[in-house]
Amino acid sequence: MSWYDYPQVFDILYDTDTRIEADFIEQIVEKHCSSLGNVILEPACGTGRMLREFYRRGYRAIGFDNNPSMVAFAKRFKPRNRKRYNVTPGEMSDFNYKQGVDAAFCLFGTFRYLLNDTEAKGHLRSIRKSLRKGGIYILGLNLTDYLSNRFAGERTVAERKGIRVTCNIKCWKPDARKRLQRFRSRMNVIQDKDIWQHETTWHFRTYGPIQAKRALSAVDGLKIVEMYNYDFDIDRTCKLYDAGLDRIFVLKKI
Ligand SMILES: C[S@@+](CC[C@H](N)C(=O)[O-])C[C@H]1O[C@@H](n2cnc3c(N)ncnc32)[C@H](O)[C@@H]1O
Repeated sequence: MSWYDYPQVFDILYDTDTRIEADFIEQIVEKHCSSLGNVILEPACGTGRMLREFYRRGYRAIGFDNNPSMVAFAKRFKPRNRKRYNVTPGEMSDFNYKQGVDAAFCLFGTFRYLLNDTEAKGHLRSIRKSLRKGGIYILGLNLTDYLSNRFAGERTVAERKGIRVTCNIKCWKPDARKRLQRFRSRMNVIQDKDIWQHETTWHFRTYGPIQAKRALSAVDGLKIVEMYNYDFDIDRTCKLYDAGLDRIFVLKKI
């Protein structure tokens, strides 16, 4: 079992920033998409929290995920206009929406689940096939500090309808040779008088600045056109070597 087998808990934890993330994605689309369309794709969409938000904003919101529990949860949303919301099972390294997509996004660092060059390239090729010309891909990617010896951590607490969730995420020193970094999430869920815990460990692929640039430039026809960080400030672009490790890359199909 992984923590993605508990979509309701995941949704409680991470839905708090959905509107802020959607606002920023809309600003990037307005600034960088050569003509505004309304078809938006989220690969690895999880519970569909972002897609529901884009549906409410009038987009045709489509997405996929490879976890059946996540897909089932995302499908529980019954929109009035079914043509504008669609979530299916799917794999990030191989998909094709036949140039029907105006903009795609993947903000949560999920790209790092693709553990080798073949999968990463397969993902970017799939994005290129799915975007129309001039369409953009907004990709969040945490760069790796290979010199850091610190065990870093992050704690999130959220509550909805009497369910209180605490999640501690810890990551270990990256293995520069294997280009892997170990992560662990520990969730604590309290509902009424019940308390339960769940722990998941996994590996993410690591990307230093040059490795990220090389990987994201590896597919002909997709070009990095801008970089932001997680300030979500459209007027503050950043450079590959700026301080801090969070990057949001904007790739355009040329
Ligand atoms: C951190 S969650 C992010 C979910 C969603 N994007 C969000 O922002 O709430 C990562 C998601 O990626 C999915 N995932 C991981 N590897 C995948 C793959 N190779 N293909 C499709 N989905 C994948 C997981 O099932 C999970 O739902």
